[in-house]
Amino acid sequence: MVAAKIALPDPAATEAAGARLGPALAGGMVVTLSGELGSGKTTLVRGVLRSLGWQRAVKSPTFTVVESYSLSSLYFYHFDFYRFADPEEWETAGLADCFRDDAVCLIEWPERVAVHLPRPDVALRLTWPAGVEASGRMLAIDAHTAAGERCLNAMTAGVARIEAPG
Ligand SMILES: Nc1ncnc2c1ncn2[C@@H]1O[C@H](COP(=O)(O)OP(=O)(O)OP(=O)(O)O)[C@@H](O)[C@H]1O
Ligand SMILES: [Mg+2]
Repeated sequence: MVAAKIALPDPAATEAAGARLGPALAGGMVVTLSGELGSGKTTLVRGVLRSLGWQRAVKSPTFTVVESYSLSSLYFYHFDFYRFADPEEWETAGLADCFRDDAVCLIEWPERVAVHLPRPDVALRLTWPAGVEASGRMLAIDAHTAAGERCLNAMTAGVARIEAPG
């Protein structure tokens, strides 16, 4: 695994990180987005979709579970499993069908459906930086595949990485 951390001082930085990720994505890839409520997961996905030409609204799929977008000759499925409670819903909703070679899956709250998910190419985690005077968010990027490493490199290009302490 290859890992990096970057600072996201404001919402525009979160969207910009998504915009650097977008062009690095390819069919079949799975990206998970972890972090507490309001940490910026949907904001980052908005940056991904906008970077690929989506101009209309990017809605949070909190109530619909998944929103789909057809872009760059790929399908993008944006999931939010926060409210996902029924273990049978994965089957009845046919969600496994979203994981295809011509589709990219971007998944908020992956912890809720961990048993169903393949290992992600990239796992993103948004947190609040430590320190009362600090603002914004921190983004931890874990790449688990070669394709995921290309995403990590794209997301960190031209931005200062936060070095691990010690
Ligand atoms: N780097 C940042 N610094 C400060 N605020 C941010 C940053 N990134 C996003 N935000 C703000 O955080 C708020 C919540 O963002 P968002 O809806 O993307 O969170 P989320 O993680 O998707 O939440 P949920 O778990 O409820 O879906 C928004 O107001 C957004 O503008
Ligand atoms: Mg969200």
